[in-house]
Amino acid sequence: MQQPPEVTLLQFLDRDSPQQNARLRRELVAGLLQPQAAIAPKFFYDALGSRLFEAITELPEYYPTRTEAAIFAQYLPAVRQALGEAFTLIDLGCGSCAKAGKLFHAGVLPARYVAVDISVDYLRKSLQHLKRELPAIEMIGIGADFTEEFRLPDGLPAERRMFFYPGSSIGNFSPDEAGRFLRRLADQIDESGGLLIGVDLIKDRALLEAAYDDPLGVTAAFNRNLLRHVNVLLEADFDIGDWQHVACYNADAARIEMHLEARRAISASWPGANGRSLRRFAAGERIHTESSWKYSAQGFAALLRSAGFAEIQVWTDPRNWFALFFARRAGNQPRTAT
Ligand SMILES: C[S@@+](CC[C@H](N)C(=O)[O-])C[C@H]1O[C@@H](n2cnc3c(N)ncnc32)[C@H](O)[C@@H]1O
Repeated sequence: MQQPPEVTLLQFLDRDSPQQNARLRRELVAGLLQPQAAIAPKFFYDALGSRLFEAITELPEYYPTRTEAAIFAQYLPAVRQALGEAFTLIDLGCGSCAKAGKLFHAGVLPARYVAVDISVDYLRKSLQHLKRELPAIEMIGIGADFTEEFRLPDGLPAERRMFFYPGSSIGNFSPDEAGRFLRRLADQIDESGGLLIGVDLIKDRALLEAAYDDPLGVTAAFNRNLLRHVNVLLEADFDIGDWQHVACYNADAARIEMHLEARRAISASWPGANGRSLRRFAAGERIHTESSWKYSAQGFAALLRSAGFAEIQVWTDPRNWFALFFARRAGNQPRTAT
């Protein structure tokens, strides 16, 4: 049998670390015990969640992946020019690494590829697959939660670091959080580096809601799988059959909201300090699982500028559904103390 190719995998997430597990459990419990219960979207991504997300990207209703790919195809020469030569591509939330792979196969080749994801087993397999296809590119995986501190590998050249954050994953942060996150990225590059980022634009409610609530029920399965993952992480006893998927567009806040709604009055429990802790849910009560903010192209460019980026280029599709931005670190920016 063929051996998987060698890829370096740096781990900042360790399931066997009692401290990390305790931190994850505290975070989950704090969210579940809020008056409006909430679970952060990073918990979607166990190995099955990662596969379900890939299935979502195949759905006819899920326009972001296809639209972003069409923008890349149309503006490839401009993207190539923006990235330049001998750069390091740092793919935040790389998932299957398919988007980076497509760029590489189109001849936009980095000196090295750094793929970061919280879903570590999926990351390892995705990166091995890509390495088999493109053995000449140095590839490094980082299993990390990038909402927390994580270090780029020692020895990674400071020049020409290009952050790659496609798929409008930035929309999972509120605009304030997104600004702080972008500022942290700007702090990790110099003026030869940049950020290539895909952003979903404000559009018609029906298009948005269909993209997050498809008739086949794949997005519903992705949302409900979160509770399977929470059952494992927290030793909780959520019964997935008790929960239904809800997705709605909040036009005032320009965000899609995903929730899990209790079909009947139920309770869920997990181990606590004194026996099992319990949260009761009334019929119809919801757990918030994701918000996905949408932007105008001007609004996002302003956010980039306020986070310390400049020389902003933007490419969109003919229907203005999605935008791809490239931005450089503004000169003379003081670095934020971290
Ligand atoms: C919406 S998917 C996007 C995947 C791919 N980049 C794309 O554009 O199709 C989000 C990806 O980010 C990863 N992810 C989500 N939250 C993360 C976090 N806090 N730290 C690291 N990776 C995260 C997920 O595991 C998943 O692979």
